Amino acid sequence: VTSPRRIRIGLLGAGVVGQGILELLRDHAGTIAERLGAPIEVRHVVARDPNRVRNDLVPKALLSFDPRVILDDPEVDVVVEVVGGLEPAGTFLRSAIEGGRQVVTANKALLAERGHELITLAEAKRVDLYFEAAVAGGIPIIRVLREALASDRIVALRGIVNGTSNYVLSRMRDAGLAFPDALREAQELGFAEADPTLDVSGGDAAHKLAILATLAYGAQVHLDDVTVEGIDEVTATDVVLARRFGFAIKPLAVARKLASGALDLRVHPALVEETSVLANISGALNAVYVEGAMVGPCLLSGLGAGALPTAMSVVSDIVDVGRNLLTGARGRVPSRAFRGESLEPIQVRDPAEHRTRFYLRIQSQDRPGLLGKIAGVLGAFDVSIEQLVQEGRGGAEDAPITVVMLTHEAPEGAIRGVLRELAFLPQIVGRPKAIRIEEG
Ligand code: HSE
Repeated sequence: VTSPRRIRIGLLGAGVVGQGILELLRDHAGTIAERLGAPIEVRHVVARDPNRVRNDLVPKALLSFDPRVILDDPEVDVVVEVVGGLEPAGTFLRSAIEGGRQVVTANKALLAERGHELITLAEAKRVDLYFEAAVAGGIPIIRVLREALASDRIVALRGIVNGTSNYVLSRMRDAGLAFPDALREAQELGFAEADPTLDVSGGDAAHKLAILATLAYGAQVHLDDVTVEGIDEVTATDVVLARRFGFAIKPLAVARKLASGALDLRVHPALVEETSVLANISGALNAVYVEGAMVGPCLLSGLGAGALPTAMSVVSDIVDVGRNLLTGARGRVPSRAFRGESLEPIQVRDPAEHRTRFYLRIQSQDRPGLLGKIAGVLGAFDVSIEQLVQEGRGGAEDAPITVVMLTHEAPEGAIRGVLRELAFLPQIVGRPKAIRIEEG
């Protein structure tokens, strides 16, 4: 293998992150060349609208709107994809890999849906596929799982990996905002996906969890294996009452390996103790809290979105891939674990069997005997109440009241039964809601 004297890249996508990459490459060119041992040269930038790319970042001659320009140029060493979405990005990456190019991508949806296929192809073609920016933007969690913790056994991984959801719940708590107002703020600040339902429904976090769990457990985790619930049904009342019990509500993504060998994979809002590490990851910050059998607790926290944090992760991947090219060390970090080949097939724990404490919120007309009926339903499902609060009528004679309970540990299946039965009580207004309490 002859070492190229420059690392030549083709950049597909010149949106917010793409322009961040160009800015970083321009401003840090000297230090990057020193750290890599060779300069990085941008050979092509493919943009949907080349006219909108700032000329101070890239000469017009390098701009195009046709991805083939990158694929057909034998001088491109590394293809960098920051377009996002399944297609045409997937087809483009496949042909880049088939053509023997090294690939760096920030595309979490594509990796969560087709990561196994792309990695298998990359190994067959002996090219590297790097994707640090796909999970939690500027936080180097992929590198930590693949390299720094390579000798450990991951007991559990708990993350806040959607900045929009964290921002929304933080603002509901700190400023007393209602859900839609807090979401609008997050969108204005630029954390949200083009379609914010992916953020608040838990879909974006599920993509990221599927990638993290695949790396942590060497198992082929698919999106369908993840139990997903969004933050969109959390109300201002929940946030206030959770606080009264000493909890914050956080948008969690959890992967754990149980003693049985099965994986517990969940994305949902959860009550966490106010004093816990994740309760204090506020605003749009992301965090991944890994519990390793050897290292113990290990916290990484930082910005999970934004042009420059995300661009930084992409450019560091280019540096890493570039080092591999310069030393002829392709495939230095084997991806077999990502394909789940080395381990037995994945077993996912039946979500109904997940045991935890729950927060239950019920709105009802205030009638004599109401609490007795509610307690009867819980008793019938063998769910035991730990604490209970009833919020008053707020002045109006027949305004509904809110009853909130914390339960002792119970299986999710039983809680679903409780919610179903409660909805049949004639006094109940709206749908009763359960939110999990996450320990640890
Ligand atoms: N929309 C994502 C978030 C950022 O809110 O965290 C990119 O993954």
